[in-house]
Amino acid sequence: KIKKIIGREILDSRGNPTVEAELEFEDGSRGRGISPSGASTGEKEAVELRDEDPKRYGGKGVEKAVAGINKEIANAIISLDFNDQKSLDNWLIELDSTENKSRLGANAILALSIAFSRTMSVSKNIPLYRQLVDREKYIMPVPCMNVINGGRHADNNVDFQEFMIAPHHAPSFKESIRMGEEVFHTLKTLLKSKGYYTGVGDEGGFAPNLKSNEEAMEIILEAIHKAGYAPGDDISICLDPATSEMWQDGKYIFYKSSQKSINTEEMIMMWDKWIKQYPIVLLEDGLGENDWHGWKEMTAALGKKVELVGDDIFCTNPKIIADGIKKGIGNSVLIKLNQIGTITETLEAVQLANDNNYNCFISHRSGETEDTTIADLVVATNAGHIKTGSGCRSERISKFNQLLRIEEELGTAGSFAGFKTFKR
Ligand code: PGA
Ligand code: ZN
Repeated sequence: KIKKIIGREILDSRGNPTVEAELEFEDGSRGRGISPSGASTGEKEAVELRDEDPKRYGGKGVEKAVAGINKEIANAIISLDFNDQKSLDNWLIELDSTENKSRLGANAILALSIAFSRTMSVSKNIPLYRQLVDREKYIMPVPCMNVINGGRHADNNVDFQEFMIAPHHAPSFKESIRMGEEVFHTLKTLLKSKGYYTGVGDEGGFAPNLKSNEEAMEIILEAIHKAGYAPGDDISICLDPATSEMWQDGKYIFYKSSQKSINTEEMIMMWDKWIKQYPIVLLEDGLGENDWHGWKEMTAALGKKVELVGDDIFCTNPKIIADGIKKGIGNSVLIKLNQIGTITETLEAVQLANDNNYNCFISHRSGETEDTTIADLVVATNAGHIKTGSGCRSERISKFNQLLRIEEELGTAGSFAGFKTFKR
């Protein structure tokens, strides 16, 4: 039974306001949850409620969402009793009563949903991953580390948003992170030696101006090699070019570099060439969210060669995912809690994907906080891979640190996912 509920406006990693919810049960257990926030958002994501008051935080304040928790939700919740996540989440969805959670805000609803999960785990004295899904054996994920940032996450001339390294040839998560960090630091030295800028973007990857998108690949491969690892055998590449951001009037425009534009067929051919040329195991949003026809073609052409993850196209929404599966779109689903807005619906999305032989790739947002729920979520779902940033910035590293703790706690009940986790 909930005794106390508090909503508050706090800040995310970009210094923008976000919602935190705090709960206390009658047994004294307490827990908090914080909502993250994206920049390259999908059109069909659940809605973040923002104040739109230009006098505060440029309109990005969340006092309305917070007031929803402290007044409407608090008044209604206090007479109720929730025994599980599902009943709380369903109650919140009904109270909001909109399809996209725009009335109370997905930022308010998710913060509460996470806070409830955490408080339940405290109350039952079990780890959060076990509260989310109780199993005998858990899988520790391959960390896909976003070492070069472009697109909307950095002010450079790189069109593609995320170039990730996946250190999969390791005995454990701990060793995998070490390999990734070694490459990250080597990459910094390498960029410096070539006269490039080594400041980082929103997700902690380097954000240099480069001669081409291909150069990002070449430099990363060189860094892997210099750090003492074999590209492909030890460490592979994952990409999220976030091409919905490049899509305009049926074409893809390289607006940050050459201004060149290409059509869907040319885009698929380009990815095919990249996959042949480089050790790429995963391609997220290789085409845009409104290019469904193209996605179908891309899946037929590349779906056996590489994991094709749908982010913007699915928005972690079980209804859209079901439609995508029917139409043969991709072979993997990106999972972001705040795209759908509750723990229950997120777990539903994972279940639906798994039932249909699709992979799940668990993800942070470009605007993050110290909330580490996704670290527990990737373990709970046995999803096998996670993207939660690069080798620096504590809002990213906090997830890695939580995974290090979980791996230690699990002991023989946990095993490292390794290369086989990638769907191809
Ligand atoms: P976002 O980026 O959080 O800015 O949406 C992450 C992604 O596109 O995967
Ligand atoms: Zn994405």
